[in-house]
Amino acid sequence: MSGPDMSKSTPAQRNKQLTHAELAATPEVHREQAVNALLRADDITAGYLPGINILEECNFYLDDGEIVGIIGPNGAGKSTLLKTLFGLIPVRVGAVSLRGENITSAKAHVLVTKGVGYVPQTLNVFPALTIEENLEMGIYLRPKKFNERFEFVSELFPLLAERRKVKAGALSGGERQMVAMGRALMMEPSVLLLDEPSAGLSPMFQDEVFIRIKKINATGVSVILVEQNARRCLQICDRGYVLDQGRNAYTDTGLNLANDPKIIELYLGTLAGSSEKK
Ligand SMILES: Nc1ncnc2c1ncn2[C@@H]1O[C@H](COP(=O)(O)OP(=O)(O)OP(=O)(O)O)[C@@H](O)[C@H]1O
Ligand SMILES: [Mg+2]
Repeated sequence: MSGPDMSKSTPAQRNKQLTHAELAATPEVHREQAVNALLRADDITAGYLPGINILEECNFYLDDGEIVGIIGPNGAGKSTLLKTLFGLIPVRVGAVSLRGENITSAKAHVLVTKGVGYVPQTLNVFPALTIEENLEMGIYLRPKKFNERFEFVSELFPLLAERRKVKAGALSGGERQMVAMGRALMMEPSVLLLDEPSAGLSPMFQDEVFIRIKKINATGVSVILVEQNARRCLQICDRGYVLDQGRNAYTDTGLNLANDPKIIELYLGTLAGSSEKK
């Protein structure tokens, strides 16, 4: 079935044919809604290899206090978006700003001092180091604050204090994820970027991770959450983005996306299946 010929329609007419979540993903609506954002990316293009863009004119914003979820198929560019926000991949076109300050392609170590924390999808702990040493690595820029921050982080994750002398390599996947999140929280971030924190965990540990994320958020940390468990992600996030082929294809509240027939058909059905395979 071929779609309507949009070549002769005006932008207003075209927009009428978009669903709420598609319209919200357009650059125009993004620019209107992102005016007070804590962190925002405008029309960013980025990639790894010369001439090959993974993100293409991607728009994203996070308001103060929010949990914003990012879902989408494998290879959509979710991790690439987080890495780009965190300065690990240069921005080719477009801009990233934090509290109105232009941080486009600012380096990760600078962003950490500005209150951005990042937990990568893989290799996010030092297995040969103890839990305590992993957390020290998180705050090597401000070692005098170690005790105070360790206490804060241990309140969220009591396990980290109870097992502080245990090597991270000896922990289960779920426990390691807590070390990784704890390490990122040591620098007192105002924004935390989490890349698939529940991947590979048993359902019980997945639930535990989502509960902790809500608790972290309740302490005042705004969270960007990339998740393979799309349904669960949309349940806990304030707003969500569906990334497809390097662009934000849809955005809306978590609740609306979870109940959007198009999202269910295109992403939640298959995503729910593929997340169970992982
Ligand atoms: N280091 C890299 N060098 C070159 N290409 C890369 C690199 N990392 C990722 N890519 C490519 O970028 C695209 C997006 O990958 P990315 O890891 O951002 O996807 P994703 O949405 O996080 O997927 P997943 O759900 O599998 O984690 C893919 O085509 C991938 O092959
Ligand atoms: Mg990824």
